[in-house]
Amino acid sequence: MIKIKENYSLDDRTTFGVRATAEAWAEAGTTGELMEAVEAAKERGWPLHVLGGGSNVILMSRVPGLVLHPVFHGIRREAEKDGTLIVAGASEALDRLVRTSIEWGLGGLENLAAIPGTVAGAVVQNAGAYGLEIAERLAWCRALDTETGKERVFTTEECDFGYRSSFFKTEAGKRFIILEAAFRLPARWTPVIAYKELALAFGGKDSDAATPAAVEAKVREIRAAKLPDPRETGSAGSFFKNPVVAKLKARELITLHPSLVTYPLAGGRAKLAAGWLIDAAGLKGYAEEKVGIWPKHALILVNRGGAAGEDVLRFAHEVRDRVERRFGVELEPEPVIMGAGWDD
Ligand code: EPU
Repeated sequence: MIKIKENYSLDDRTTFGVRATAEAWAEAGTTGELMEAVEAAKERGWPLHVLGGGSNVILMSRVPGLVLHPVFHGIRREAEKDGTLIVAGASEALDRLVRTSIEWGLGGLENLAAIPGTVAGAVVQNAGAYGLEIAERLAWCRALDTETGKERVFTTEECDFGYRSSFFKTEAGKRFIILEAAFRLPARWTPVIAYKELALAFGGKDSDAATPAAVEAKVREIRAAKLPDPRETGSAGSFFKNPVVAKLKARELITLHPSLVTYPLAGGRAKLAAGWLIDAAGLKGYAEEKVGIWPKHALILVNRGGAAGEDVLRFAHEVRDRVERRFGVELEPEPVIMGAGWDD
């Protein structure tokens, strides 16, 4: 039996640390309990929101409807012909999965060290860092179809991963709640160290120094130097996605701003470093009373104390508008905004 709590405080439920209250809240540790919550929401006409580790979410002060918190733990390994599968419960911290895999002597997830949030959250948004994305390691995930009450296994292909996106983020995918995910770790590990600071630290791919534990430690070090410590400063990681622009626009911007950081894509399109754009618009370290831009990395919006989701949105709109006026590029938020839309 689940317990539904009304007017539930979500103040401690997100890494941004915004002040928020849910109309209703429930935790569920079995598929039966998940379905019970889904039915209760249907009966009362409540919109349903799934909230995991809260690391990539901005909540409005009042979240209408039922906020459902799945609790599915456990990490196990299964030997395979060409490597090892590590299967983790949806609610396990992604970082615990990374640490466990390294402790077990298995390389392959180390680039994802210190990413906050849960395994399921990482799958939904195809989390990635320092040259590796979840999509590259996921073997399958199992999810509950809240319309039929049945479980379904999704292959990597069916997850339809893109840059910070997956099938589970689409309208059709929202009826599924991820229960567990399996990651395939290669039998013959090779380091992923093309990212500039990793390449500098380890030299070539054949470097003996690049063990899984050493890459993991370096990733933690790079993150600690650039990103706010989640235990001290509230944030949701990168606040904006790196925008993708068409060939002509990319050429024009590079001509005007030769130092612009870009990542070439197929067909001449380019992904631009949003951090560079915000920085070059003069906004690094810019702050209002409650929300600000992290002085060491312009893509991170931080909670300076007592911020509500509305304050974050207003501030983020201003950043978007200033970047658009300066470069003609529109930034879009990376975190999920719960209780409101992005467009004002
Ligand atoms: N840059 C600036 N000024 C800044 C910040 C960045 O000029 O204030 C430039 C940097 O010099 C660099 C470029 O922008 O050349 C890119 O910066 P960085 O390597 O730090 O990565 P990012 O594109 O800002 C992305 C992900 C991060 C991930 C890193 C590392 C997105 C939205 N963010 O950030 O993921 O950790 O790459 O791979 O794709 C997240 O999604 O929450 C997240 C933290």
